[in-house]
Amino acid sequence: MNTLTLAHYYTVPEVQAMADYVGDSLELSLIAQRERADRIVFAGVQFMAETAKMLNPHAQVILPDQGATCSLVTQTDIDALKQWRERHADCVHVSYINSSAEHKTVSDWVVTSRNVDDIIAALYAQGKKVIFSPDRNMGAYLNYQYGYDMPVWNAVCEVHDKFKHEQINRMIEQANAKGTAYLLAHPESPLPVLLHADMVGSTKQMLDWVKNFEGDPDSTTLFIATEEGLLHNMRQLRPELNLRQAPIYTGCQCNACPYMKRNTVDLVVRAQQGKGFVIDYLDDETIEKARAPIERMLNFSKKRSAKNAA
Ligand code: 13P
Ligand code: SF4
Repeated sequence: MNTLTLAHYYTVPEVQAMADYVGDSLELSLIAQRERADRIVFAGVQFMAETAKMLNPHAQVILPDQGATCSLVTQTDIDALKQWRERHADCVHVSYINSSAEHKTVSDWVVTSRNVDDIIAALYAQGKKVIFSPDRNMGAYLNYQYGYDMPVWNAVCEVHDKFKHEQINRMIEQANAKGTAYLLAHPESPLPVLLHADMVGSTKQMLDWVKNFEGDPDSTTLFIATEEGLLHNMRQLRPELNLRQAPIYTGCQCNACPYMKRNTVDLVVRAQQGKGFVIDYLDDETIEKARAPIERMLNFSKKRSAKNAA
């Protein structure tokens, strides 16, 4: 059996080392769509494994641990979401990929943190009215940054929502007294944090920013406001840089996603042997309806990268 193992950057380094590919939500979706595997082991969370199943329905898709969910999914009541969507029937419904399969069936577009800005800008350029779900922080940021007036659903990533700008600003001030400090933040973070950030982007965009950073390593501190797993990838790329996890409200300098961390080495090994939470509960109609907005997004991103490369 041809088994493909995919891992998100937020999984522990040992699990990332077991994967054929490590990436952000967009990359992993593109790989799941492209690769012809009999079995896909998804070391990530449930919505990612569901997305892989929709894009590669003939593969057996296994999530190593059934408890690997996401607060953006569990905080969203689907009946209430459907009513909200109906109340805004004249709008295009753009949903973040961190959403359940059923959520995606009532969405016109699915986006990731890497392409959300471009897709919503394209919709506004066409004169469309847009509603955004489920991430309140990301929606607030887009409305503020681009002057949109999108109604936004009210759920958060419980990991990124813990970042508090007061603590972060204090650390940045201390670091600035000795040199230059920068803040990189994931758009799932609260708006006040994002407003103080030098760079806002997906995990992959943050990695690329660090990879290409040209400042003096001896006098620079880079604060990273995202799940702590990404620091490992950044340090591998640029070991000489002073990379610091941004503090959370407890003052603690750690911020781990409890769902991503359920992907232990042992469970990934078991999943590679066919044991784990098999994504076999999505019916054909759900797969078809949920896949359409995902494919729309993947086609948009492929065209955009082809245009940028030309
Ligand atoms: P990206 O890696 O696509 O930025 O997503 C972050 C995330 O929270 C995944 O759960
Ligand atoms: Fe969900 Fe946040 Fe964990 Fe990502 S980091 S899986 S958004 S809870």
